[in-house]
Amino acid sequence: MPLTILVGAQWGDEGKGRIVDLLAAKADIVARYNGGDNAGHTVTVGQQTFKLHLVPSGIIHTHTIGVMGSGMVINPATLLKEIETLRNAGIPVSPERLQISYAAHMITPAHRALDVAQEKSRGKQQIGTTGRGIGPAYTDKATRRGIRAQDMLDQESFADKIADHVGETNVLLQKLYGAPLLDPHKVAAEYAGYARQLTPYISDISNQVAVALASGKQILAEGAQGTLLDLDYGTYPFVTSSSTTASGALVGLGLGICPVEGVIGVTKSFQTRVGAGPFPTEVFGATAERLRGTGSNPWDEFGTTTGRPRRVGWLDGVLLRYATRINGLTELALTKLDVLSGFETLRICVAYQAGAKYYTDLPFGPADLTPYQPVYEDFPGWKMDLQGIRTWEKLPEQAKAYLLRIEELTGIPLRLVSVGPERAQVLEIGG
Ligand code: GDP
Ligand code: IMO
Ligand code: MG
Repeated sequence: MPLTILVGAQWGDEGKGRIVDLLAAKADIVARYNGGDNAGHTVTVGQQTFKLHLVPSGIIHTHTIGVMGSGMVINPATLLKEIETLRNAGIPVSPERLQISYAAHMITPAHRALDVAQEKSRGKQQIGTTGRGIGPAYTDKATRRGIRAQDMLDQESFADKIADHVGETNVLLQKLYGAPLLDPHKVAAEYAGYARQLTPYISDISNQVAVALASGKQILAEGAQGTLLDLDYGTYPFVTSSSTTASGALVGLGLGICPVEGVIGVTKSFQTRVGAGPFPTEVFGATAERLRGTGSNPWDEFGTTTGRPRRVGWLDGVLLRYATRINGLTELALTKLDVLSGFETLRICVAYQAGAKYYTDLPFGPADLTPYQPVYEDFPGWKMDLQGIRTWEKLPEQAKAYLLRIEELTGIPLRLVSVGPERAQVLEIGG
């Protein structure tokens, strides 16, 4: 049963990239199935730090093959830049090692302009999107006007399609938003160049993954964003526009219902969110500054893609339990335990309270969390720096108690705990 799915269990930025990097050592194919360059996945290997937006993070292991699924929306300019950056860093990326689904959709400058214009027009209701054109590209997909990777194969009609698409989007930009217009022919010429460069990468990755599965190869599906940003099951409308959850991996890679070896949920040891939307356990002031950091460490809580400071808070056990169910998580990987060193007291939200009622499961999902107050359990903190620790036994007792409570709240085992951004800074727990 060689398919493993890895998802973010919170609002993204859980440290998926670094956990994928760890697991990819044993994978044959690493597969991104959703989202676009709104994602930012950091992998630190020795002195090298990679910030990947589109290419699966597992590509850094040079024995792997990377695939980008139909569930993705791809900005070709970002992709080509990323391929070049990887090559310059000594990671070979060529059509032999990276394939793009013919059914993946393309992001254009018109999508990005529309994203920015729509955000502006939302006023106080802003989602805080990354401005990468994600929502408009998925909108075009759903309304069947999108541009697919396959369209690049016929370069003449592709240029026409791009010009038409920009022309149509200009109407919206002008009439609805009063935004500056784009030159359809300039964009078409730019995209013709991308098509020439990307054509060799386009293939039927669905078939490729199916054949690999049938021959017993290991496939690691890498989710972008997180469960609470899922279009259906997240904190709607403060979500992204794709299926970030585990079932999105099947649609986004073109797989049937197949045996899954495990569904790994990556969670931080606390909670963060970048962008607007509900966040019941959010903290402010000195505690927030401690959790976020000031930017002096590379891992401090500032967005990998946009550089925005992330909102921070205590771990939300109710939402983590929800993510466990929605994804069918079989195990947890917890990151950034080292960041909690030095707190006198740590808190975990173990239930929500509304009036006289207590909830450990959400009656109507997480979209409207305003009726609830978090109910906290407090845990004594620890002082020890954890970054050098590699075994469960060496962890302070307070840290063990904190982690055991998380297992209890979710009902699934904690298999990996990371205590620093580097590849080796991980504890593997149990067998
Ligand atoms: P992703 O989007 O889920 O891949 O996560 P990001 O890369 O956006 O954000 C995670 C940040 O935390 C990155 O800067 C990582 O290098 C860093 N990180 C991951 N795990 C750990 C850890 O255990 N400890 C510390 N201090 N930093 C970590
Ligand atoms: P990774 O893969 C954190 C957030 C944005 C915004 C909302 C919608 O690195 O975990 P979008 O541009 O997708 O329309 O924005 O989703 N968001 C992320 N937050 N990590 C991400 O990706 C995100 N991708 C999108 O901040 O609130
Ligand atoms: Mg990220």
